[in-house]
Amino acid sequence: MIIGILKETTKNEKRCAITTGTVKSYIKFGFDVVIQSGAGSQSYISDDDLKDSGASILQNAMDVCDKSDIILKVNPPSDEEIDLMKENTMFVSFMQTTKDTDVVKKLKAKKINAISMHLIPRSTLAQKMDALSSQSNIAGYKAVLMGACHIGKYMPLLMTAAGTIPPAKVVVIGAGVAGLQAIATAKRLGAQVEASDVRPEVKEQVESLGAKYIEVKSDESEGVGEGGYAKETSEDYKQKQQELLANHISKSDIVITTALIPGRPAPILIPESMVKGMKEGSVIMDLASENGGNCELTDPGQITTKHGVIIDGTTNIPGTMPVHASELYAKNINALLTHIYDKEKLTLKEDDEITVGSLYLLNGEVVNKITKEAIK
Ligand code: NAI
Repeated sequence: MIIGILKETTKNEKRCAITTGTVKSYIKFGFDVVIQSGAGSQSYISDDDLKDSGASILQNAMDVCDKSDIILKVNPPSDEEIDLMKENTMFVSFMQTTKDTDVVKKLKAKKINAISMHLIPRSTLAQKMDALSSQSNIAGYKAVLMGACHIGKYMPLLMTAAGTIPPAKVVVIGAGVAGLQAIATAKRLGAQVEASDVRPEVKEQVESLGAKYIEVKSDESEGVGEGGYAKETSEDYKQKQQELLANHISKSDIVITTALIPGRPAPILIPESMVKGMKEGSVIMDLASENGGNCELTDPGQITTKHGVIIDGTTNIPGTMPVHASELYAKNINALLTHIYDKEKLTLKEDDEITVGSLYLLNGEVVNKITKEAIK
């Protein structure tokens, strides 16, 4: 059974799905590993080091696809890669299956079996496979550093001979994995931090990190959806939330937004009117930009200045920290494969709960409920 790793082709993608440590782990498990030359180079993992760990280095994607039974990537496959894959290959990557429906259809037509790292269940058992969390954690951390570089200010309170500098004010909207890491990072840099979310249980988590919770008073279950995720809120709630946030945001230096609703475009939480009320030189780091953005004025993938406010819609922030992003992603996938494949027979455990949760294509059929609904 051969695992193949393709070099990422998406623009600005520096991550990869393998490390020397995970090559050794796959080989110990019983798999063979083939890697496209240069796949790890942007994460500073050389072909020679991968070879020394036991992998074979192949020159191009065609050779890798030809040999592999399982193919690992960070990003969804390109049309060319799908054309190169053999029928029945197992393909594993991040994939928003309800958004990238054309790719799902192409994989289906080619009878590729496929797992999405987006679909890994958020259970205790699957924690070490949870690539959404490992990458969101990086995004939350790096967003604070990027925001701190945009503002022409110190983050901490400083008492200098020339006078006292007050701490920067940071507001985090959406306190899931990325938001909580952003809060912790901004606190470590000495900023004054406030945060808000729609799920009531988040209040305690925000306060335990030393930040102030901005609470929208509402029915307890207003923003609580399935599986501990958020759901879309009512118009009444949205209005109350915007009025409350406008006040806090108008005094802040950095606003970090991370609010996502699974399978839906990101909710607009900062309309243009709110941006107009912000201080000149303040910044919005919109981590939801890949799904449209939480700010009405965000240009996904761009850094713009509107009404004197810097709006940073950089996508793929984890990709700006490729060393640790690749290390954690490769470990997540390794934990997944060594769990869902039988060690003796090297076959897929089709009825395992993690296989069932994350597999969306099997033998030419869509086997995941939300994916099936999306491609109807
Ligand atoms: P996410 O990336 O889907 O969303 C980010 C945050 O935005 C969430 O906290 C969400 O409640 C919030 N949000 C959504 N709409 C909003 C709105 N209109 N206004 C303000 N905030 C809004 O969430 P993430 O980070 O993936 O975490 C989702 C849940 O999964 C959390 O409950 C988290 O604790 C849980 N989780 C569980 C894990 C496990 O048990 N292994 C691992 C990771 C996360």
